[in-house]
Amino acid sequence: MHIHNISEQNSVLNTFLSEIRDIRIQKDRMRFRKNIERIGEILGYEMSKSLCYQKKSIKTPLGNSSINLLTDDLVICSILRAGVPLHNGLLNCFDKAENAFISAYRHHKTNSESFEIIVEYLACPDLENKTLILADPMLATGQSILSTFEALKPYGIPKEVHLVSVIGAQEGINFISKQFNSEAHLWIAAIDKTLNNNGYIIPGIGDAGDLAFGGKLQQ
Ligand code: URA
Repeated sequence: MHIHNISEQNSVLNTFLSEIRDIRIQKDRMRFRKNIERIGEILGYEMSKSLCYQKKSIKTPLGNSSINLLTDDLVICSILRAGVPLHNGLLNCFDKAENAFISAYRHHKTNSESFEIIVEYLACPDLENKTLILADPMLATGQSILSTFEALKPYGIPKEVHLVSVIGAQEGINFISKQFNSEAHLWIAAIDKTLNNNGYIIPGIGDAGDLAFGGKLQQ
């Protein structure tokens, strides 16, 4: 798998990352969602450089302008609910993309730190020969993104797979590197060292879904 860690280069991405991490700033939900969306736009822009283009002629009021335009048929798939702001950012880049949504959540077994990933709702177009962009803001263990990818298999074989994430833990990235084929790409804003016993990324940001949309009752 090709791993593109975008914060390795200095850019304004680091400002948005620092704000979603900062315990004082991240509590402002609207700003948190906006920052995740802006990170999605930057990751989408970086990814767009690796896609397929064809020369087109555009008629202006005063002549013709030749320009290379994207030819891939894109499908953006996000994991509910934390994936919604990241999805919006990607869609701001790729506004003609088709969209898929899937709900995957961690079900903690009673009196245990271990959990399984439950996939429930799934709405997806045909994926055959399309470019699949699979977005999961927090790539912790890598189980959610893998379960999602498995659940999408009946919808067709994509031409290319691009995983998009805001923050990942090194062990989750090591895990998915073995699960996805060597041609797949991961576009990620930052890679953190480790996970805690509850599967949260350290230092990470906390719970991305709660920060974006508020807390929830435990199932
Ligand atoms: N999901 C989150 O929201 N945060 C983490 O750190 C890991 C998974």
